[in-house]
Amino acid sequence: MNAPLKGLAMQAPSYVKNAKLIAWVAEMAALCKPAAIHWCDGSTEEYDRLCQQMVDAGTFKRLNPAKRPNSYLASSDPSDVARVEDRTFICSAKKEDAGPTNNWMDPAEMRATLQPLFDGCMKGRTMYVVPFSMGPLGSPIAHIGIELSDSPYVAVNMKIMTRMGKAVYDVLGDDGEFVPCVHTVGAPLEAGQQDVAWPCNKTKYIVHYPETREIWSYGSGYGGNALLGKKCFALRIASNMGRDEGWLAEHMLILGVTNPEGKKHHVAAAFPSACGKTNFAMLIPPAGFDGWKVTTIGDDIAWIKPSVDGKLYAINPEAGYFGVAPGTNLQTNPNCMASLDRDVIFTNVALTDDGDVWWEGMGEAPAHAIDWQGKDWTPAIAKETGAKAAHPNARFTVAATNNPALDPAWDDPKGVAIDAFIFGGRRSTTVPLVTEARDWVEGVYMAATMGSETTAAAFGQQGVVRRDPFAMLPFAGYNMSDYFQHWLDLGKKLAASGAKLPKIYTTNWFRKGADGKFVWPGYGENMRVLKWMIDRIENKAEGSEHVFGVSPRYADLNWTGLDFSAEQFETVTSIDKAAWQAELKLHAELFQQLAHHLPKELPATKAAIEQRLAA
Ligand code: OXD
Ligand code: MN
Repeated sequence: MNAPLKGLAMQAPSYVKNAKLIAWVAEMAALCKPAAIHWCDGSTEEYDRLCQQMVDAGTFKRLNPAKRPNSYLASSDPSDVARVEDRTFICSAKKEDAGPTNNWMDPAEMRATLQPLFDGCMKGRTMYVVPFSMGPLGSPIAHIGIELSDSPYVAVNMKIMTRMGKAVYDVLGDDGEFVPCVHTVGAPLEAGQQDVAWPCNKTKYIVHYPETREIWSYGSGYGGNALLGKKCFALRIASNMGRDEGWLAEHMLILGVTNPEGKKHHVAAAFPSACGKTNFAMLIPPAGFDGWKVTTIGDDIAWIKPSVDGKLYAINPEAGYFGVAPGTNLQTNPNCMASLDRDVIFTNVALTDDGDVWWEGMGEAPAHAIDWQGKDWTPAIAKETGAKAAHPNARFTVAATNNPALDPAWDDPKGVAIDAFIFGGRRSTTVPLVTEARDWVEGVYMAATMGSETTAAAFGQQGVVRRDPFAMLPFAGYNMSDYFQHWLDLGKKLAASGAKLPKIYTTNWFRKGADGKFVWPGYGENMRVLKWMIDRIENKAEGSEHVFGVSPRYADLNWTGLDFSAEQFETVTSIDKAAWQAELKLHAELFQQLAHHLPKELPATKAAIEQRLAA
């Protein structure tokens, strides 16, 4: 392991040969003025040392090794707990290229704004040079990034979340391309100044320059604001790369599903943040589904490229899961709970008196714990004040290899061929449990008009319905209407090549009954819906056509092992004409907002639905 380099005498390790990279690190070091530079090699020894350093600094607590081996708890500053969408910018040269759903600033103006903020921003800190591959090293679908960060928390999280380390430089070579990502917590230390456990800055900027494929992040140390491989690179920048190069960067899990005959299919599914993506990606088929198996390729992001065989091949660009802890338990996601047995970084969950972790919805509450803000927490305090032991957006960071349901092909450089796309909103009314699009355009329409009730991941505020096209609203790095066009164009191109296009479905696990409770049991029971989709792909299942697609009738699903009546099924599948007329008005509002470059196929599909509704 190379020791941190003191001052700006920044000799890159001998295995770093990329002249552009070396020059860029020198330029950024001159701007940010760190006290030291550490070129991460990605070794376990380095990980352990940085974790110990954070334990010593008070950023990490080591959890009881008898309960949770090799695991740590970090508690963030209470002001730094989630992605900051209002501080996230797409600085394309032209405003219209960012589109109405992104914050935009002229790139020159943004550079002028950031320059003084970054000048000296790493004083007194070490700048970590974090080389990472999004996707299996050397895969034709993968791409490389280098993150410069003054946060050791970022360095260790990136080791889990990406293929991080020395081997990246072998792929990069002398003149390979990389996405430069600069991150600072924005809290320089003056000489003698005492550091805090979670440095950050009130001012935050999460900035993307799509044309030059750069990411600059200032002021936050949390999640997607700081782990720049994830939302910033793998979605916002990569969606631009995908548009220019003819592929897709999507906010999708990828799973493999094997039927009792041993035939395997692959499904990519988009759900808005904190809507159970990780649960669906790790689903365990319930009783009555003997011989069915679900395996995880990815839980959050998919990069999908068309191949010469006319199929779409997907990889998970990530190597770990940065999942929402609250609500995760042995019923909702046993595979995830097993993944969290060891080697985990928890952020903003509660610490129990025996040195373990707890969060709301994990199981029986401890009699006493220290909450995510370091305060005493008891069930009585919670009852009296409503205090949460864990922040609703508390997270775990864990390697994919901890997942007992990991798909053997999860690291295959070729990727896996996608047979179906699922788009799932969170709606308490209106949208039925599952609908199959009759063709690609209808599927794109379903995805484009998806709506969802918000969750804690973005704003810490819940229950407001917002349109979230393709679950990409906070992540599309360019104009949303151009993004729709890109999907339509890809479909046309694949169809013209004679390829069989993946089927497209929309799901809604979240319909509520008159009592305000969810009607559909969800979690493992979603297998019933997944089986119907797989059977449809194999032409083995029926459905009934309605105004905007094809849905199963009660008799079309397998109900073995579940007591779910035809009446309950009606509650989660009924299509209410008046509700749909109101819904279509909201689609019209969305189309008005996205009018610039909106593909004509979308209003045409809406008109066709309206006609069928009126008939
Ligand atoms: C996530 C998110 O963290 O979508 O995956 O917010
Ligand atoms: Mn996500």
